[in-house]
Amino acid sequence: MNILIVKSSAQGAASVSNRLADHFAAAVLAAEPAGKIVVRDVGRNPLPHLVEDTIVGIRGEAQSETELATRQISDELLAEVQAADLVVIASPMYNFGISSTLKTWFDFVLRPRIAFRYSEAGPEGLLGGRKVVVIESRAGAYEAGNAMDGQEPHLRAMLGFAGLTDATFVRAEGLAFGEEAAKAALAKAESELTALATTRLKLAA
Ligand SMILES: Cc1cc2nc3c(=O)[nH]c(=O)nc-3n(C[C@H](O)[C@H](O)[C@H](O)COP(=O)(O)O)c2cc1C
Repeated sequence: MNILIVKSSAQGAASVSNRLADHFAAAVLAAEPAGKIVVRDVGRNPLPHLVEDTIVGIRGEAQSETELATRQISDELLAEVQAADLVVIASPMYNFGISSTLKTWFDFVLRPRIAFRYSEAGPEGLLGGRKVVVIESRAGAYEAGNAMDGQEPHLRAMLGFAGLTDATFVRAEGLAFGEEAAKAALAKAESELTALATTRLKLAA
């Protein structure tokens, strides 16, 4: 069992999504002691934004040194996903969407011909066959369909586009609604993650 954890908070040790990802990792390892965990923390070590000098590296034929270096980063990130049986994405909500560091990770991973392809039948995702757990942390609370939530629908769209449709979302929300509410939200998210690791994910299956 290979587990890839993608962290993307700017808040380091104070991060709620990081804390929940660590909680989940511990629960997964307790259920699956032979599990191997790889952490890709793009919040702490951000990837470079794609710009004119680099975009061809992942969307076309890489030629220049910069383009080749960009493609190499993309290759590494994709290899981490392809090696994983379970991908955990820890996503803080910043300004109603995902963090820019996580968006950049997706920009590197959602590569034509590797993550998806188009045919007469439309787009086809190519990264399926693995489970995904998304951990969301946010100060407010966003019921399904709330137009202010530019985080979860965006994540569902990107994951689905790549064929990552076996995705479970766990939310810690209402974190700014007072100390008691924050505590309760964290406890609820932690118990959902423990349950996922021990039973619902059926990791050993
Ligand atoms: C720059 C920034 C922007 C934020 N924007 C929002 C927001 O639009 N909506 C919201 O509900 N919470 C917002 N928050 C609160 C975060 O979602 C909350 O702090 C959450 O715990 C972030 O996850 P993290 O602790 O893993 O970084 C914002 C926080 C920061 C630092």
